[in-house]
Amino acid sequence: MAGIVRSVVTGVGGYLPERVVTNAELSTRVDTTDEWIRERTGIHQRHQAADDQPVSDLAVEAARRALEAAGRTPADVDLIIVATTTPDLTFPAVAAIVQRKLGCPIGIAFDVQAVCSGFVYALSVADGFVARNRAKCALVIGAETMTRLMDWTDRTTCVLFGDGAGAVVLEPGEGQGTTADRGLLGLALRADGTKQDLLYVDGGVSTNRQTGYLRMLGNQVFRHAVVNISEAVTAAAADAGVEVSDVDWFIPHQANQRILEGVAKRLGIDETKVISTVAIHANTSAASIPLALDHGIKDGRIKPGQLLLLEAMGGGLTWGACVLRL
Ligand code: ACO
Repeated sequence: MAGIVRSVVTGVGGYLPERVVTNAELSTRVDTTDEWIRERTGIHQRHQAADDQPVSDLAVEAARRALEAAGRTPADVDLIIVATTTPDLTFPAVAAIVQRKLGCPIGIAFDVQAVCSGFVYALSVADGFVARNRAKCALVIGAETMTRLMDWTDRTTCVLFGDGAGAVVLEPGEGQGTTADRGLLGLALRADGTKQDLLYVDGGVSTNRQTGYLRMLGNQVFRHAVVNISEAVTAAAADAGVEVSDVDWFIPHQANQRILEGVAKRLGIDETKVISTVAIHANTSAASIPLALDHGIKDGRIKPGQLLLLEAMGGGLTWGACVLRL
């Protein structure tokens, strides 16, 4: 088969704000305990951005690290997509702010908003440019300051989220059209807008001109999570032409350890193949997958050439999965 162009991840980077908030600290603010949070979620701690640290600063740091890992500089970047729900401003897009702060040349820059599924959505959008040779060096960034959306009197949500950013560099690479190719191989994206009331923010520009607070019926979201994610994982594997059992590493959105385990069990995935950072990062929404990917690469588990499966579910509801060979 003649060569085809694939979108290949050539560098990964992550950034977490300095301040760590432990469960013990939270238990001095709301009626909760370290034990409840660990048992129900697997979370031990989360990072929180400083008051003067907008999400673009987190994104820029993750992007710098991803570019360095790829052996590229800001001058090479011609496409920036930021997946975020917590932008610096209503506009311009965080991606345009990142472009300015990094000093990238004029190119394409915009945000994608699919909440916790944002990174998987953004990767698929970037693939539309890179695999058609419309971008030569793309930054795809998941960046969030979710702690800014918390109602600190609501113990059912404020213990779950954290701040951070993760980034990948995507570049065109020649493949043979087989599952041995490096790059993005398969994809499944989903949304069900009828489930809005399960997970949303009660503020917005055109509703009440407020930022609002995150509201979630956690146990109802939980019920949808395992079924929805499992279906998308199976569909993404089929789209890629691989078996779920062929995958070397599962890199899930990090919402709850029990969801990670539930999906693994349903699909017969060995739990040792699941990258879990929920204990140390909590739920960083669109940032959680690239942060977990970075974590797995840095600790030496994830290696070039391996088959990865990324999956997420979040507000919308949105969910999805993609298969890529590193
Ligand atoms: N500390 C102590 N007790 C608590 C806390 C807390 N922080 N939070 C809730 N409780 C209590 C509740 O009040 C309830 O008490 P009651 O039985 O007296 O009424 C009890 O604990 C059980 O509450 P549930 O909500 O049923 O607990 P559950 O086991 O479902 O865990 C959780 C809650 C962790 C939120 C879980 O449902 C979950 O992870 N849901 C999915 C979240 C998710 O995946 N979201 C999608 C991504 S996020 C995004 O897109 C932005």
